Amino acid sequence: MDLTSDQLKDYDGSDESKPIYISIRGVVFDVSTGKSFYGPGGTYAIFAGREASRALAKMSKNEEDVSGNLDGLSVKEMGVLEDWEKKFQAKYPVVGRLIVS
Ligand code: HEM
Repeated sequence: MDLTSDQLKDYDGSDESKPIYISIRGVVFDVSTGKSFYGPGGTYAIFAGREASRALAKMSKNEEDVSGNLDGLSVKEMGVLEDWEKKFQAKYPVVGRLIVS
């Protein structure tokens, strides 16, 4: 399944009948089993329905970092992002790709 960032937003956990998705480097994961983290009121709800690469790389929950923009990230931050990708690959099913439009 290909999703635009607008379509990805539909899967932010606000509609209980829908799964929760998060994109990392354009790969969209179904993180519904992590609802306690990403669902409404969850500690990491800010990432739900969004491309979270930059925030994950920087270990940031700042609104301005929740994007797929990797510009200016350090080697260390890119390593952190890779670790997150590995964690998500091991834990959550991939459901599609984010279309960058
Ligand atoms: C003092 C700061 C923090 C503490 C003590 C903390 C602690 C934790 C703990 C205990 C978990 C649960 C791990 C598990 O059960 O698998 C977790 C998960 C997570 N943390 Fe943090 N965290 C902190 C800061 C952050 C920040 C700043 C970010 C921003 C990227 C972040 C991103 C995440 C994510 C995305 C998960 C969920 C991973 C998953 O889906 O399994 N954390 N954190």
